[in-house]
Amino acid sequence: MGAFAGMRARWYPGQGKMTADKSQLYRELAEQLGALLAGEPDRIANAANMAALLYHGLPNLNWAGFYFRHGGELVLGPFQGKPACVRIPLGKGVCGTAAARAATVLVPDVHEFPGHIACDPASRSELVVPLIEGGKVSGVLDLDSPLVGRFDELDQAGCERLVALFVEYHHRYPA
Ligand code: SME
Repeated sequence: MGAFAGMRARWYPGQGKMTADKSQLYRELAEQLGALLAGEPDRIANAANMAALLYHGLPNLNWAGFYFRHGGELVLGPFQGKPACVRIPLGKGVCGTAAARAATVLVPDVHEFPGHIACDPASRSELVVPLIEGGKVSGVLDLDSPLVGRFDELDQAGCERLVALFVEYHHRYPA
């Protein structure tokens, strides 16, 4: 299992609380994600655990989860938070924009983002990272916060690394 071998034993509930150092927090989350993935090829199960890890490990979130690409739209995947819109056309909303651009979209204030899809009116800022596999967008990771300006470049870099771990793991160990 290469880099992911032997990591399962290092994760336990309660790890991943906010620390003063955001970079350190993301390093811990990357290690915990590796532990959760280790030995399990099922993408849906792993996405569910990753959503839970982020929802409970990152402060001030009201939604964390995945949309997976099916043709010309994104379809809701595993998440934590309130029920959400199920289908988002590519190019629509923050998620569809990130998928269409194949690039992360960080929105400090969703009220300033034309076309933002308000699944939960409490959401005020949003970070969407695309999953890129074999040069194609296969989905997105979406994080929502009730705080304006919740996400910064450290969150972007940290979440891009976590998504890269998720994608690389399933490329190496396909179900
Ligand atoms: N706000 C997103 C829709 C998904 S929910 O936030 C979970 C968007 O504009 O794409």
